[in-house]
Amino acid sequence: MEDNADLIGGVGGDRLGGVIDSLVTRGYAVSPGYFPPSLVRALRKETMERDQRGEFRLAGIGRRQDHQKDTRVRSDRTCWLKGDSLAQCRLLDAMETLRLEVNRTLFMGLFDLESHFAIYGPGDYYQRHLDAFNGNNGRLLSVVLYLNEGWQSEWGGRLRIWPEPDAMRVVTEVEPRAGTLVVFLSEKIPHEVLAATRERYSIAGWFRCNNTTADWLDPPR
Ligand code: OGA
Ligand code: MN
Repeated sequence: MEDNADLIGGVGGDRLGGVIDSLVTRGYAVSPGYFPPSLVRALRKETMERDQRGEFRLAGIGRRQDHQKDTRVRSDRTCWLKGDSLAQCRLLDAMETLRLEVNRTLFMGLFDLESHFAIYGPGDYYQRHLDAFNGNNGRLLSVVLYLNEGWQSEWGGRLRIWPEPDAMRVVTEVEPRAGTLVVFLSEKIPHEVLAATRERYSIAGWFRCNNTTADWLDPPR
């Protein structure tokens, strides 16, 4: 049943309009059930298989020359998505639909997407941060998709969101439930991943602008 429902209107379907509206009014959007169970299941399976094959690495902060591994800031493990499975292709397809709609309605000029699988083990966290500042990495719009079926509130692992860079008061906390999509402006919305008592699976991605100039070919990451 649920798998048939997935096929109607494509991934996201009628939820896309709501995501765009919320982005405009709040700078972030939370959309439970944006991704169908069958796709989420396939992506979770792939995450676990890649982990077993040793494809995950301790996540870093910053890009290239200033790339550091600092477990005081974050302690999750990640593996970059390269579009080399059917499930990844379906996901990237849905992201492309989102990219085109955001560009069409909000003129954000989103150019490409870099994304990774992430595993937070029990006790892992990612302290409050912005995904971009002053255009340092070209990231404009952040997306997070959760892959945890049957997630219980008491396991923790919520994504905490503040409404603007200097805000003191949290506006919302999102449970990392299977199929939920979170989208937010990379330079404007601070967020934090709280520690969980179970393994927590997600995919995080960033739509970037094109920083290529005549003497600088912008690499994807
Ligand atoms: C990130 C991030 C949020 C999450 O990877 O930059 O903030 O809920 N992830 O996994
Ligand atoms: Mn982040």
